[in-house]
Amino acid sequence: MSAATPAGGDGCPISARSAAMPPFLVMEVLERAQALEREGREIIHLEVGEPDFETPACIREAGIRAIREGKTRYTHSLGLLELREAICEDYRREYGVEVTPDRILVTSGTSPAMLLLFGAFLDPGDEVVVADPHYACHPNFVEFVGGRNVFVETAEADGFQLHADAIRARLTPRTKGILINSPANPTGNLLSAGNMAAIAGLGRCVISDEIYHGLVYEGRARTILEFTDNAFVLNGFSKKYAMTGWRLGFVIAPPRFVRPMQKLQQNLLISAGSISQHAALAALREAAPDVARMVGIYDERRRFLVRRLRELGLGVAAEPTGAFYVLANARHLDADSHRLAFDILERAGVAVTPGIDFGNCAEGYLRFSYANSLERIAAAMDRLGEYLQSRR
Ligand SMILES: Cc1ncc(COP(=O)(O)O)c(C=O)c1O
Repeated sequence: MSAATPAGGDGCPISARSAAMPPFLVMEVLERAQALEREGREIIHLEVGEPDFETPACIREAGIRAIREGKTRYTHSLGLLELREAICEDYRREYGVEVTPDRILVTSGTSPAMLLLFGAFLDPGDEVVVADPHYACHPNFVEFVGGRNVFVETAEADGFQLHADAIRARLTPRTKGILINSPANPTGNLLSAGNMAAIAGLGRCVISDEIYHGLVYEGRARTILEFTDNAFVLNGFSKKYAMTGWRLGFVIAPPRFVRPMQKLQQNLLISAGSISQHAALAALREAAPDVARMVGIYDERRRFLVRRLRELGLGVAAEPTGAFYVLANARHLDADSHRLAFDILERAGVAVTPGIDFGNCAEGYLRFSYANSLERIAAAMDRLGEYLQSRR
């Protein structure tokens, strides 16, 4: 059989499940930006949601030590007990909630955690409420396991808050869960404690993606476990500890879901990487000063970027106070965010993510990531200013 045979042309079609999976647009912007770089263009990257910092030295050293000491085997399928205990201690210290290690499943990133979680949680046709805008991949996990997304609109004027009343109107007998993400990708907003409590009070299981906890510049992030135990927490080490390449995350689950998720992990993934787990232990125990340093730098960039975007006439109604994103309203320039983002890339050499990647409510918006140096962000804003001048 020829490798060039088009999918399906040989009577062997690709699965409907994979055909239904949309591309992740931010990667397409990145790939076009890289093609321009190969042609000699110099591009400023504000599209990718990845810390620009190196993993703190204490974490890297712990990883190296684990290799030297031969800690290179499969671990327990739930994850190293010591790491799960440290995660419990972290949630106790940060939020005053009591979690036991037997409720934690350590995975190779938050993304596999979502796969196992939704795999254990949803039957085909079950519904999950998802905010619009939302992290691009969230609804794709739901659909991949046969679930249905029910999108609930949020608004810029309101800081993209997800309201229990809006959710209540969309609940059906098939509604199994409500997915929240605070601080949020792509808006950088924090869900208010009042809204979290009200959402917890709707009586459905809440799935709380807490991966941007730790990257908060005003106020403080609250875990869903402060409001209800009928909840899953998704979290990981990629963002707060600048550990994207180490691939490490975890789920805190209601007790009855741990064993089903563990069986999925045993069969599909076996265990998370042992070296990364030892490194993550050092992250929780030793990296607080490094995180504080990174947070200070992100905050300076955040304030600068918001000010410059507003000066350039882009709409940032509610100042984002977490993660490392600003979702700016650019509808007055072009209602088609995909076209606008690629035009800015081609003509200004600045890579940003089209809002449509994050749902219909983000169409007409652009997501700027400030996981880049202040100097590069300043240069990007100057280029954007010239681009806007040239459109007049
Ligand atoms: C909201 C959200 N959840 C999960 C992830 C995936 O994180 P991980 O690297 O742990 O798989 C991302 C990555 O951008 C994200 O923004």
